[in-house]
This record gives sequence, C-alpha cells and structure tokens, in this order.
Amino acid sequence: MKRVFPVRLVRLLSEVTGIHHDPDRHYLLDSRLSGLLKSFSLDSLEDLGLLLERTPPDEEPWLAVYDAISTGETYFFRDRAGLDLIFPSLVRSHPARSGPVRLLSVGCSSGEEVYTLALLALVAARLPSVLLEGIDLSSGQIAKAREGVFAQRSVRLVPPGLLERAFIREGHFFRVKDELREVVRFSRENILSFSKPANSYDGILFRNVIIYFEDSSRKKMIEIFYRLISPGGFLLMGSGEFLPDGGAPFHLESHNGIVVYRKK
Ligand SMILES: C[S@@+](CC[C@H](N)C(=O)[O-])C[C@H]1O[C@@H](n2cnc3c(N)ncnc32)[C@H](O)[C@@H]1O
Repeated sequence: MKRVFPVRLVRLLSEVTGIHHDPDRHYLLDSRLSGLLKSFSLDSLEDLGLLLERTPPDEEPWLAVYDAISTGETYFFRDRAGLDLIFPSLVRSHPARSGPVRLLSVGCSSGEEVYTLALLALVAARLPSVLLEGIDLSSGQIAKAREGVFAQRSVRLVPPGLLERAFIREGHFFRVKDELREVVRFSRENILSFSKPANSYDGILFRNVIIYFEDSSRKKMIEIFYRLISPGGFLLMGSGEFLPDGGAPFHLESHNGIVVYRKK
C-alpha cells in the first residue's frame, strides 16, 4: 500500500527552505529522510517533523535534513553563455563606490560556479579586485566548496590552458590554486533568511535553484534580491529561468537573448 507522507513535515520543509516537494516524488523524500531517523533516535518521519518544529533552523537535525534534500548537481562553466557576459558587460563601475566587485552565487552547491567566476575574473584581468561569495543550504556542499578539489567530471568544460594555469593536478583530481581561493568565500546560509545589509552585491547569480522552489518562495526572491543588489547591479539566472511577474521592480535587459534583471 502507498504510504502517505506526513503533510505537516512537507509543509514545514517548504516553509523553511522554499523547496517544493512534488507529491508524486514523496517516495524520494521518504527514502532520503528515513535514513536520518536512526542517527537522531527517532521512530518515524512524524517524530522527525515534531523535533524539527521545536528546533532552530540552523541546528541539528535541520542541518542533516538540508544535506539530505539538497540536489547539488553542478560543474564548472555550466550554462556558459550567461557567464561570459559578466565581466565584459554586466558588471558596471560605480563612481561613488571603490573596492572590489562583489558577486554572490546563491545555491552554489560544491562551489564550481563561484570558482568559475574566479576563472573568468582571472581571464578578464580583474584579480584580485573581486570578492566572490557562495552560499548554500547544505553544510556538506559548503565543506566541499571550501576544499576546492574537483574531479575530472566537474572540470570537463574548463578550457585546457585555463585548467593548466589555475589548478594543481593531484592524481585524478584538480586543486584550485591559492590565487583564486583568496577571492572566494563560502558560507552555509538559507537565502530565505540571509541577513546581509542592503546593497551588499554588484551582482547575484541564482541559477538552477528556482526550479526547485514553491511559487510563494519564487515571489519572495524578488524582494530579497532587490534589497541585496546595489543600484546598477544585476541578477543572472539560468537560461530558461525567470522571476515571476516579470521580476518588477527589476528592469529586464536582453543580451543576445539572455535575460538579465537590473536594479536601476
Ligand atoms: C542544482 S544546485 C545549483 C548549483 C549551481 N548554482 C549551478 O547552477 O550549477 C542547487 C543548490 O541550491 C541549494 N539550495 C536550495 N534551496 C536553498 C536555499 N533556500 N538557500 C540556499 N541554497 C539553497 C541546494 O542545496 C543545492 O546545492
């Protein structure tokens, strides 16, 4: 007989993380979360829900739950067309502001997107005057990002000359050189409760994350990003991904068909 997944638990997970869990795929959620019951001495998913309800969302067992539900697929130079626009076209200089260009990758997973930004900055001769941050819900992904060591599969789209210049080969793995590591920062954060001051970033990347979100969380993202991005800054999503309702108050720009949201 088909098992009914605890409704209260699904609702709680969506409220806290923004992630939508399709009822047709609750079996997947069931198997990912059931694996945690033993570690927290719980008998059922209902008990897990009750424990989560009375635990602050940055403590265990929440951290283990984030690791279990995170879909972290990523690789260097993923969806390249949008990335190639960043340094030549999207980053604008601000006469009123000095200091490094500040970019944030939201849902950075194991860090490939952030290190790709560092590679692009290297090629554009913008190092070291950039500060590239990545945040992700999952502490497991953030630990991998901080390590900065990647398998062949992850770096397969890095142009060979750049691979040579920016990585140290360690057997079958590739370690990012210090020159690039110095401009990146990673932290475990939930974008829905991210408390950075307004105007903190010149640009935000939010790619391959909104597809997992509930409609109501998609709407909240507009307000969150509009506050975090400084005037003149941009938001770049994955190709074929859009903010709801046209993204207003952001202004839409098209760069050869690639949509970019701009804060005026
Ligand atoms: C498929 S990966 C995308 C990685 C990268 N942006 C890319 O395009 O290759 C999605 C990531 O979003 C993260 N994520 C999901 N909800 C989040 C939230 N509320 N706050 C921060 N990260 C979140 C997941 O943990 C996962 O690592």
